[in-house]
Amino acid sequence: MERKKIIAANFKMNLTSEEIDNYINNFEIDKKNVIIFPSSIYIDRFKDKNISLGVQNISQYDDGAYTGEISANQVKDLVDYALIGHSERRTIFNESDITINEKIKSAQRYNLKVMLCIGESIETRKANKTMDFLSNQLELDLKDVDISNIVIAYEPIWAIGTGIIPTVKEIESTIKFIKEKVKNLTGHDIMVLYGGSVNLKNIEELEKISNVDGYLIGGASLDSNNFKKIIEVVDNQ
Ligand code: PGA
Repeated sequence: MERKKIIAANFKMNLTSEEIDNYINNFEIDKKNVIIFPSSIYIDRFKDKNISLGVQNISQYDDGAYTGEISANQVKDLVDYALIGHSERRTIFNESDITINEKIKSAQRYNLKVMLCIGESIETRKANKTMDFLSNQLELDLKDVDISNIVIAYEPIWAIGTGIIPTVKEIESTIKFIKEKVKNLTGHDIMVLYGGSVNLKNIEELEKISNVDGYLIGGASLDSNNFKKIIEVVDNQ
């Protein structure tokens, strides 16, 4: 079955209140395969848009004394997805695979779909250890979770925000590996997106990759016109 590609925007900690309003006014997109992950405080502003919405992070706890955290229980009626395991959460905020696994379980207790990010560092890639590394991440992150509502975003850390992307061949073989690994672990097929410096200049080239099921886009999604053009390229293929 041919599934529509997912085109996701990760705004990270960008855009002011005014910039978000301008973005929304200029974003006349009506597609559920488009997901926006804004800062949590702005999620509600997108409520009249016919797109999918997500949170950039979620607590592993359901509720209680966890200052500054947001739980799946709190956002379950506002969003469709929780982005879990982004490399910035893993490296800057020291999230372990155990925590990430707990976060997936927490999201699933409240019926949120999960976009799980995995990806290797440049040192791992150079040492030819990428597949071992990803394999380990998948085993730990997906331990005892329900795979049916999870999509994976493969984001090599060295490609995020750098303007450098892997070759088409590298992306294709890594995605193939991830799909096979998940199938071995769970018996199920999974959608795998690519993320890391996706932009209007490289999207046509990336679209030649046969097994990519969509994209997770940071910097290039922050300008609504730019993001709309990328959506157009992907949806018109
Ligand atoms: P980038 O970010 O497109 O700016 O590289 C992607 C991401 O971090 O999800």
